[in-house]
Amino acid sequence: MWEKRPVLLLLLATAAILVGTIVTMVLPFFWVNTEADAIAEVTPYTALENEGRDIYVREGCNNCHSQLIRPLAPDVKRYGPYSRSGEFAYDRPFLWGSRRGGPDLARIGNKYSDEWHYRHMVDPRSMVPETNMPEYSWLNDAKVDAAFAVRKMDVLGFPYTQGDITALEGKTEMDAMVAYLQKLGTDLPRTGKAADKAKGLRKAEENPLGGDPAAIAEGKDVYAGNCAGCHGADRGGNIGPELAPGDFEDDELFDTIADGLPDDGMPGFSRLGRDRIWKLVAFLQAE
Ligand code: HEC
Ligand code: HEC
Repeated sequence: MWEKRPVLLLLLATAAILVGTIVTMVLPFFWVNTEADAIAEVTPYTALENEGRDIYVREGCNNCHSQLIRPLAPDVKRYGPYSRSGEFAYDRPFLWGSRRGGPDLARIGNKYSDEWHYRHMVDPRSMVPETNMPEYSWLNDAKVDAAFAVRKMDVLGFPYTQGDITALEGKTEMDAMVAYLQKLGTDLPRTGKAADKAKGLRKAEENPLGGDPAAIAEGKDVYAGNCAGCHGADRGGNIGPELAPGDFEDDELFDTIADGLPDDGMPGFSRLGRDRIWKLVAFLQAE
């Protein structure tokens, strides 16, 4: 019946759309990045990190990587506490992204050592054999432009000292990229929730699959896909130490693998699940 009264229909439709617009687009201005929303620990990017961020934008990393952990169980389980708006106070423009061809990077900082990042950027397959991430080795050849960096810091209003700028001399785009990645998500203290998953997962002190040749063979494959990049194809060590049989008890190995060593550049692998971790342990304990 309203469609026969165009003026009334137009007014009602406009009102309906306006309400939606105000609630979703105008009201957030009053609470996003305000005092109530701000997080004191979140700091602006340093000059070097800010350069890395710009290279991230230039290379379109955000086409494959999101930087937003949604408040959904699978996201939180995999990437850590969900993102809060105050964490993005210094992100202009934000790089939340809408596609995940690769993992979310909102909390990538401190997950790996710098060394891992340098190698992964130059040759992603040397660290993760099955990845389709392109290589970015040329970032090693380009130097950052200190004068331009100063102008950007000024425009953004980020604090810096003359020393920070002098320190940019000779830095490559790769240095900047790694510095940026290592900052992401590290302003907030780690909650410790990500670690300590091993206890619930392990359920036994001795490896139920220890010495089983089929388990050892499968463990070898799991090792090649997840550990070889850091511990060497022959377990002889690389970024991480050599892993010789008999150095650890079964349960110690299980816990180190599941929880990782978060402060020492060894990520946790609880996502592999109990069965595959015990197979890995069987492989690591075999001569
Ligand atoms: C074609 C899609 C694609 C592009 C473009 C891409 N990546 Fe990736 N990236 C991936 C995939 C897939 C993975 C997961 C496997 C791996 O670690 O390589 C990944 C993993 C990563 C990781 C490790 C994440 C983790 O938690 O293990 C980092 C860091 C990373 N990428 C940074 C970058 C940066 C920086 C750029 C831009 C210079 C970039 N990526 C561009 C696909 C991509
Ligand atoms: C990103 C690199 C990286 C990956 C991937 C990685 N590790 Fe590690 N791992 C390290 C580093 C670095 C250390 C040494 C930490 C330290 O300084 O105590 C380490 C330590 C260890 C230790 C303790 C060794 C010791 O002597 O204290 C074990 C066991 C281990 N890793 C097993 C594994 C297994 C199994 C995998 C595959 C599921 C794996 N790691 C994947 C980097 C890695």
